[in-house]
Amino acid sequence: MNTINQEIRAANGVKIPQIGFGVYKLTKEEEFETAVGEAIRIGYRHFDTAKIYGNEKNLGKEIQKSRISREEFFITSKVWNTDHGYEATKKAFGETCKKLNVEYLDMYLIHFASPHYIETWRAMEELYLEGKIKVIGVANFEIQHIAELMRHSKIPPMINQIETHPEFPQNELHDYLVEHKILHEAWAPLGQGNKALLGNAELKKIAYHHNKTVAQIILRWHVQRGIIIIPKSSKPERIKENIQLFDFELSSEEMGKINQLNTGKRYSHSPTGYMISPLYNKLMKIFIK
Ligand SMILES: NC(=O)c1ccc[n+]([C@@H]2O[C@H](COP(=O)([O-])OP(=O)(O)OC[C@H]3O[C@@H](n4cnc5c(N)ncnc54)[C@H](OP(=O)(O)O)[C@@H]3O)[C@@H](O)[C@H]2O)c1
Repeated sequence: MNTINQEIRAANGVKIPQIGFGVYKLTKEEEFETAVGEAIRIGYRHFDTAKIYGNEKNLGKEIQKSRISREEFFITSKVWNTDHGYEATKKAFGETCKKLNVEYLDMYLIHFASPHYIETWRAMEELYLEGKIKVIGVANFEIQHIAELMRHSKIPPMINQIETHPEFPQNELHDYLVEHKILHEAWAPLGQGNKALLGNAELKKIAYHHNKTVAQIILRWHVQRGIIIIPKSSKPERIKENIQLFDFELSSEEMGKINQLNTGKRYSHSPTGYMISPLYNKLMKIFIK
């Protein structure tokens, strides 16, 4: 099946499919197989995983099963909080590649700006220069973390993956990223499927007008902002609708109406609170062993 997708270029020229597929919370093997198998079948080639999701091995299996060449895929994974530092990051990268059964990663991100992320970045720069990672970046970084990283690095981050949806559009951080030629990637692009958001009357009106679903309107809003998105779904019909975004366009008036839904409400934790909890990190270390 030939699904239309757009590509966005990172600062180094590497092309990234604008619509990817996030695999967080797809932990049951059967559910994972159905969802990712279907995603590949209908044309997704960009997949977003992380060590902490515990499904890198399953993703590798599905990619191999497809018999589609490795080069056609765009695979992202992330360094977890317990693997910060130069040596630990190199080791974690090796383990991730082994689980995914790949020789290189298309994108590798620092999952959170936990302590020692500068040392982590040094390892990632080396792996990048060796050709083992095509795009290096960060996730959940705020302006001060990016500024600090840029002060101490040879290669600036090429992307920042952050919670973004109509209620939390990240306007200030978005402008900063654009100014510094860092791509903006949205996690929770659908506000984690929040019912109030998906049932919003204004969005429903716009969806009706375009004969699309509310989810497609939200995703199209991201696309028109130039943001890379990685919606997750376990349901084949939604997986399909989430990538059918290039046969309609929102007017500037509609974009404006969606911009007005900004309430400043996150659906997840603030990254700053999340990453500094030593108890959280300790539990995660036990959990992912
Ligand atoms: N870097 C980070 O810290 C971070 C954090 C969180 C997530 N992520 C990444 O971002 C990806 C996406 O984020 P997310 O999973 O948190 O949130 P999301 O993609 O915004 O929302 C997923 C939820 O929306 C529902 N959904 C999907 N498509 C739908 C549709 N067309 N209509 C109605 N409901 C729909 C899904 O339910 P069903 O499955 O039942 O369809 C699921 O409950 C993750 O999978 C992960 O790869 C990164």
